[in-house]
Amino acid sequence: MTNATPDYQAILQQVAQQMQPLSHRGKVADYIPALAEQSLGQFAIALHTADGQTFSAGHCDSRFTIQSVSKVMTLTLALQRYGDELWQRVGKEPSGTAFNSLTQLEFENGIPRNPFINAGAIVTCDALFSRLSAPIHTMLESYRSHTANPKVGINKVVAQSEYDHRYRNAAMAYLMKSFGNFDNQVEEVLWSYFNFCAIELNVCELAQAFSYLSTGGICQQSGQRVLSARQTQQLNSLLFTSGLYDAAGDFAYRVGMPGKSGVSGTIIAVAPERFTVAVWSPGLDKVGNSVAGIAALELLAEKLGTALF
Ligand code: DON
Repeated sequence: MTNATPDYQAILQQVAQQMQPLSHRGKVADYIPALAEQSLGQFAIALHTADGQTFSAGHCDSRFTIQSVSKVMTLTLALQRYGDELWQRVGKEPSGTAFNSLTQLEFENGIPRNPFINAGAIVTCDALFSRLSAPIHTMLESYRSHTANPKVGINKVVAQSEYDHRYRNAAMAYLMKSFGNFDNQVEEVLWSYFNFCAIELNVCELAQAFSYLSTGGICQQSGQRVLSARQTQQLNSLLFTSGLYDAAGDFAYRVGMPGKSGVSGTIIAVAPERFTVAVWSPGLDKVGNSVAGIAALELLAEKLGTALF
């Protein structure tokens, strides 16, 4: 075994090539009408190393909404402001249920299982809302500084479409309010939540935006500390146990890295102290995770030996 740096570019190209047939499998998310317009057959992958280099392959210029991957940044901004106090409002346990499930909330007194299911992300948004005067602006600024791209924006058509079809998410938020676990106006918090989900990036920017997860909490582009080293470790642990909802166990088995998926067909994964990787391919499996995205990360982890165990 040598310590030579792998040829990341060549490896990503091999992965992208092998994933091309798989990128036609699965179904695009159609419960949000604006997302149903994405087409199958697309695949992109980018890797941002802990020493600041970006490598990519496939449809890298395509921009997509980051959907549930935004929940990682929401949690990050909330942890910056609340630290461990946040865990009074949301749990740290895997849910074993679908990302938009309502059932546990009723049994568990309006405390969502973790910050990555919708209910958990929405209550985390509510906490953030209480500490920020312009949450959407602050969130956009985070992505802009993490990617060094001042033009990062929001796909307003997707945000509006999600808001117009917000019934399940609204039901969760009102249920939490009925249990006293919601401080602000539900509709205003939901609007922020949907805007966070509709932030649009390409795959390189997505890997850069979450580079702090592989560097012990420091953002590569801005040089700023985003989280403490301990908080970063803790966040990665939660991503490992809950980042892929009811498929977290399968992802841990196949890929072996902390990860977070979104219904636009994107997934980020982290090799601590080595790199953050982002993939995008819109065809989803039954759970709502990208078919080619998971297969690509599985192949990458095997080629680079990045599974944690
Ligand atoms: O709230 C929703 O349903 C979407 N904006 C986000 C869902 C999502 O990406 C779940 N991930 N797999």
